[in-house]
Amino acid sequence: MECKVYPSDAEHIAEAGRIIAEGGVVGFPTETVYGLGADALSEAAVYKIFEAKDRPPDNPLIVHILDADDLSLVIDGEVPEYAKWLMDAYWPGPLTMIFPKAQCVPLAVTAGLSTVAVRVPAHPVARSLIKAAGTPIAAPSANRSGRPSPTTAAHVFQDMNGRIPMILDGGPCKVGLESTVVDATGDMPRILRPGGVTPEMIRGVTGAVEVDKSVLQPLALGEKPRSPGTKYQHYAPKGKLTIVRGAPEDMINTLCALYDRALQDGQSVAILAMGSHRNLYGNRMVRELGGDGADEMAAELFAALREMDDRGVTRILAEAVEAQGMGLAVMNRLSRAAAFDIIDAKGSDWS
Ligand code: TXA
Ligand code: MG
Repeated sequence: MECKVYPSDAEHIAEAGRIIAEGGVVGFPTETVYGLGADALSEAAVYKIFEAKDRPPDNPLIVHILDADDLSLVIDGEVPEYAKWLMDAYWPGPLTMIFPKAQCVPLAVTAGLSTVAVRVPAHPVARSLIKAAGTPIAAPSANRSGRPSPTTAAHVFQDMNGRIPMILDGGPCKVGLESTVVDATGDMPRILRPGGVTPEMIRGVTGAVEVDKSVLQPLALGEKPRSPGTKYQHYAPKGKLTIVRGAPEDMINTLCALYDRALQDGQSVAILAMGSHRNLYGNRMVRELGGDGADEMAAELFAALREMDDRGVTRILAEAVEAQGMGLAVMNRLSRAAAFDIIDAKGSDWS
């Protein structure tokens, strides 16, 4: 199947909507990452998503709707008060919430679970596409399983050429990491996957929030995850990735020492660092993750990991960032990409 990348103008959005209405799959932009969309109410259409991604069938999808008024199309029962507050505050936006599912949502979407993940995207192309399709759209990130999520149409093409007919190009994604996933089936919101809506932002609205321990820790052997997606090692680059954390000066000294050693060992090495630290690495190979701060790192992280593979980098060394605000989402994705290989920088005499 030849895959075409089109500008996201009205004509091509209408065509993409038609493809979805007829049971097909298209790639499309959202404010977080690109999605692979199909009719959420058609089991046959949803299977095509799993096939295109090589996604394990026990990993459920997110259903995208236009606004909270459409929730009753896909969920069942009462919405807790705190979830209403969160919708008012952060929908449309990078927030997904989990509720008991309506009967009409196929079990293929929820991977057999009785709950469904729902999101109201903010990106105008995603919104127009939901309208054009005339149905809720089930969409995971548009990468092949195990690859970093795509943040440009070119990334989607890399992974999906030959597998889907069409990609809408909406330029690079603003947030760069997938939406925050919040379990809204309990007494209190519980973050299963951190993203653009931070724990601080949620607590600010609801007064309380729990962060699932799987967010920054690997699952223990045999432990069952609350969010099935978290058990898979996501975003694994081909090169070996290590994260170094510590006070900036110690962190940078340690990264330099590790870099020099890997270079001596004949490796192709690169450092992922904040742009504001660039000069402190001398002439070492640095891939800047934005200028400064976790938001900018988030927007660049997945593109940088893809670049590492494309350039054949065998040893990747990354700066840690404080696991606060957007930094929690950055550290969640980075830790998984590194298979939790995280080391503490020692004092500057470390060698
Ligand atoms: O930003 C995003 O959320 C993007 C764009 C396209 O909207 N989508 C996305 O989908 O990241 P995906 O499939 O890559 O991630 C969905 C996550 C997985 O970790 C999955 O396990 C979790 O949501 N999930 C979905 N339904 C769930 C449910 N019923 N209970 C618990 N976790 C669920
Ligand atoms: Mg994904």
